[in-house]
Amino acid sequence: MDIEKILESLTVEEKIKMLSGKDFWRTKDYPEKDIDSFEVADGPYGVRKQTGLCDHMGWNKSVPATAYVSGPGLASSFDVDLAEEMGKHLAAEARELGVDILLGPAVNIIRTPLCGRTFEYYSEDPVLAGEIAASYINGVQSQGVGTCLKHFAANNQEIDREYIDAVVEERTLREIYLRVFEIANEKSHPWAIMTALNKVNGSYCSENEHLINEILRNEWKFDGLVMSDWSGVNNRERALKAGLDLEMPYNYGVSEQRLMKAYEDGTLSMNVIDTACSHILKTLERVHEGRKRIPCYIEADHNSFSREMAQKSAVLLKNDNCVLPLKKSERVLVCGNFAINPRFKMEGSALVNPTSFEIPLEEMKKIGGENVYFSECYDSKSNILDFSLNEAIEKAAKVDKIVVFAGLPDGIEAEGKDRKNLFIPQSHISVIERLYEANHNLVVVLLNGSPVDTSWDSSSSAVLEMFLAGQCIGGAVTNLLYGIVSPGGKLPMTFPYSIEQTPAYLYYPGYSGTVNYSEGVFVGYRYYLSKKISMKYPFGYGLSYSRFDIHVKGYRIKGNNADLNISVKNTGDVDASETVQIYVEPPLSRIPRPKRVLVAFKRVYLAAGEEKGINFSLTEKAFEYFDPDLKDWYASEGEYKIIIATSSVDDVTSIAINIIPKKMKYEEVTGWSSVGELRATVAGEEAYKEIKRILVESGNMQAQKLPIFKKNGESDEQVNKIPLRMITVLTDNVLNNDIMDELIATVNTKNLEACR
Ligand code: BGC
Repeated sequence: MDIEKILESLTVEEKIKMLSGKDFWRTKDYPEKDIDSFEVADGPYGVRKQTGLCDHMGWNKSVPATAYVSGPGLASSFDVDLAEEMGKHLAAEARELGVDILLGPAVNIIRTPLCGRTFEYYSEDPVLAGEIAASYINGVQSQGVGTCLKHFAANNQEIDREYIDAVVEERTLREIYLRVFEIANEKSHPWAIMTALNKVNGSYCSENEHLINEILRNEWKFDGLVMSDWSGVNNRERALKAGLDLEMPYNYGVSEQRLMKAYEDGTLSMNVIDTACSHILKTLERVHEGRKRIPCYIEADHNSFSREMAQKSAVLLKNDNCVLPLKKSERVLVCGNFAINPRFKMEGSALVNPTSFEIPLEEMKKIGGENVYFSECYDSKSNILDFSLNEAIEKAAKVDKIVVFAGLPDGIEAEGKDRKNLFIPQSHISVIERLYEANHNLVVVLLNGSPVDTSWDSSSSAVLEMFLAGQCIGGAVTNLLYGIVSPGGKLPMTFPYSIEQTPAYLYYPGYSGTVNYSEGVFVGYRYYLSKKISMKYPFGYGLSYSRFDIHVKGYRIKGNNADLNISVKNTGDVDASETVQIYVEPPLSRIPRPKRVLVAFKRVYLAAGEEKGINFSLTEKAFEYFDPDLKDWYASEGEYKIIIATSSVDDVTSIAINIIPKKMKYEEVTGWSSVGELRATVAGEEAYKEIKRILVESGNMQAQKLPIFKKNGESDEQVNKIPLRMITVLTDNVLNNDIMDELIATVNTKNLEACR
């Protein structure tokens, strides 16, 4: 496609019209000029293609498509290959339905578990979320369908999402909230990115020059299309200038008129219009290329892949006395309306109309047959206890095990609103507690999109977290409960003891249109570990039906890089998987850094008795933080620990590495800097010698007594503590502030020079 030529052939009006949607899901076309539309649809966990009435809140039906496991479920797999496969499956369905770009993945960091869209997002950790997102994108795009990474950026709550100003310091943005987008962009080059509705540091994301033009385009070299969230443009002219190419959906010509007027008034240049049009045309070019690929879609295969995903995502939180897996011969009482009417889909724009759906109770009966009994116990619409609970209590003592299906009913976690608390309905808790009194072999299956309070779990022997598991929830949970497959997922977000304990608790949801991210980089486990606050179920945690032996077979440290070779052996007697997680613990520093951060991970699937070796290569990046003075990533000097672990709190072993920064960090010397701070650089050491020379040559007695002249037995440490101003005060004007300031200025100039 000759984009320049096409641009020449278009009138100003045509170009301006191209900058907003043709309708709800398509871009503007000019058939007579050979420019067609491309079509987008929501699709993070299943394609939501609407053919009738359209909306962005899941109100109107979409055509059937496979419903896959929700965001935290996918992330809890810690399996990048699975995410890539999911991408390929989604692309095949998208192509089948004529969708060119999927509006996903949704990767915002889970800052508070109350966020209504937690079920769509991946994790509280940017490395996990970024890696999963990159694989998903690579999977989709390898099949010729595009992705749209969303929502850029800091869209971490639904309350006031349309206008709230997220006030986030630059370091926190870079290390947490932008990092996930940065990783995904670097590793997978999404075709498009969607701006968030909210503001960041005073400016709407859709018109945020710093986010779009400066960081995304100039720093990260993003070469795709920047589009708005639905009706997420505040001022179209400002947005266009800040780099927002496409406004979605169609807005009845309002933006067009404004842009036209701005162009005519001379406040909007043709160059800005052309740049945005060229990004749209370039995307169209990618779409044309992509349409040539016809990925194969077989409904049944997609259904079974959805089951595989749900199985690989489930997290076994608790399994006392190996109450799980169930045996076929055991009499099992299944309780809870969720067993026949499970919650398995998301809501809002991520709602999928499934191609089919499996009922857990029916699937369990296929294995346990007549040994499986059922009692509804509660109604999941009204959330009130059912009379059948009494029958269940009677039955409970007569069966071997009880499985209670519990979790969050429809409507509690949703797009456009946040949860008010972490609790599951009291009726679900009552069923668990009352049945446990009758029989302690009680298993809870949780169906929920976001972390919940689990203080009731002392009334259970096992807890299996399924998240919103997609349309094959029935088969997947049955296979897990009966041990046909072993659970192996790990939590992508902390389950706290209470909401009061969570890092953002005091600052969320903000007031007067502003939410301050005052917890800074201390998000999720970074916070709990740094403050030594115990977590109910920690990040990275999850049990298995098997056991593993993990050890470091070898490692090599070269400069600021480390290569690790780790062996993982399945020492149990069932096939299972383990996820090795690598965390880095920095040395103590003036800049507060989280106690540890995840830098790499790998899930390994092993047959019973099997052993495999896995490799990790850490580069200097693993040790860096975003330095606010340098305005760049920086690994400060010191001894770091590389921790090999199976969760954020379960360490296998650790290795030390000494990091020597490749670049020098410029720190301004002032009159209140200490002698030690002055001497930290070559130029400073020279100045220090000069100070001593001036003082000695002055012959001034008072000056000779200054503590910068080491007396016998005095250490450098003591000398280094003295502030420079003290020297000027105590030398009878021999070395006054003017002389000192001149010396300091020379040092700063030389230091700045050396840092370039
Ligand atoms: C959501 C987006 C979604 C869009 C289109 C918005 O409400 O925030 O994630 O892609 O609607 O449905």
